[in-house]
Amino acid sequence: MTQLGHFPVMLDEVVQYLDPQSGETYVDGTFGGGGYARAILEKADCKVIGIDRDPAAVLRGQEFKTQYKDRFQMLEGCFGDLEQLLDQAKIDKIDGIVLDLGVSSFQIDDPARGFSFRFNGPLDMRMGNSGISAKDLVNSASVEELKFILKTYGDERFAGRIASEIVKRRVTTPFETTNDLASVIRRLVPKSKDGLDPATRSFQAIRIVVNNELDEITKVLVAAEKRLAPNGRLVVVSFHSLEDGLVKHFLKTKSGNIPNVSRFTPILNQEKAESTFKVLTKQAVKPTFAEIKTNSRSSSARLRAGMRIDASASKLKGD
Ligand SMILES: C[S@@+](CC[C@H](N)C(=O)[O-])C[C@H]1O[C@@H](n2cnc3c(N)ncnc32)[C@H](O)[C@@H]1O
Repeated sequence: MTQLGHFPVMLDEVVQYLDPQSGETYVDGTFGGGGYARAILEKADCKVIGIDRDPAAVLRGQEFKTQYKDRFQMLEGCFGDLEQLLDQAKIDKIDGIVLDLGVSSFQIDDPARGFSFRFNGPLDMRMGNSGISAKDLVNSASVEELKFILKTYGDERFAGRIASEIVKRRVTTPFETTNDLASVIRRLVPKSKDGLDPATRSFQAIRIVVNNELDEITKVLVAAEKRLAPNGRLVVVSFHSLEDGLVKHFLKTKSGNIPNVSRFTPILNQEKAESTFKVLTKQAVKPTFAEIKTNSRSSSARLRAGMRIDASASKLKGD
C-alpha cells in the first residue's frame, strides 16, 4: 500500500528519551517528513536544527519555518558532517541529537527515486544529489565486490549466484531500472515462506552501500560525542542489525564498558578511556505491538539512547 507521507516510528519513545527542555537546542539529523522535529518543538519551547541530505526533505523543512520561525533551522547535508554543519550554523554545543536511520516513506514510495522493487523506476537509490547511483554500482562492481555487498549488508544466502548473474547479464544488457534488477534476483532466489520479496535483501544491501550508510553512522557518533553538552542526549532508531550494532558498541565503549581482551590480560584502570556517555537503554527498545500493527515498517526498529556526561566532572566526584 502506498503511504501518503511518513509515519514517524517510535515517536513517543524518541521524545521520552530525548526529554526536550525549554531554551535548549536539539538536532534532528534525519528530518525526513519532520515528524520527530515537530514533536520536539511541540513538547518544549526549544530550538531544533533539522538536517537531511535529501533536497526534497529540505524543502519540507523550509515550510516549518513559517510555523516555528526562529525556533527551527533546516540544513542540507549529511549527518556524518554534523560538526561542519553546526559550524556553518554557528552553533557550538547541542543538548540532544536524534537519528531515525534509513529511508522515509516519501523516498521509498516514489518510483523516480529507484529505492523500491515494488515499482519500476530508474535504478538510483541515492538519498542526496551526489555520489554513485545503484545503476553505476551494479554495472561496474566486480563479481567479488557484489557478492561481498549482498552477503554483508543484505545477509543474502544467494549472494554468489546473484553477483555472477548480474555480471553476466550486464555485458549485453546493462541495468537501467529497478525492474531489471528485481526480475534477475527473483529468478535466482526462491520465495521465502514469510512472503518477503526475494529482492528485498539485495535492494537493502545496495542502498546501504550507495549511501555510505554505515560510515555516516560512525562519523556522526564521533561528532555527537564532541558536540553534545553535558547531560545532552543521543537517541538513535535503527532498522538493520549492523546499524544497531554500531550504536550499541559505541555506547558500551563510551560508557566505560570495554570488554577485556582476555581475562588473563586485564586492562589496567589507567589505560581505560574516560567514560563520556551513560547508557539510558540497557537493552534496545522495541516498538509496541500496537505500533507494529498500525505501521508494519516499524517492526524492525530498535531504539538506543545515551546521555553525554562531563568526564572531568565525574572524575572529580570520583566516579
Ligand atoms: C526514516 S526517515 C526520517 C523520518 C523522520 N524521523 C520523520 O519523522 O519524518 C530518514 C531520513 O533521513 C535522511 N537521511 C538518511 N541518511 C542520512 C544522512 N547520512 N545524512 C542526512 N540525512 C540522512 C533521509 O534522506 C530521510 O529523509
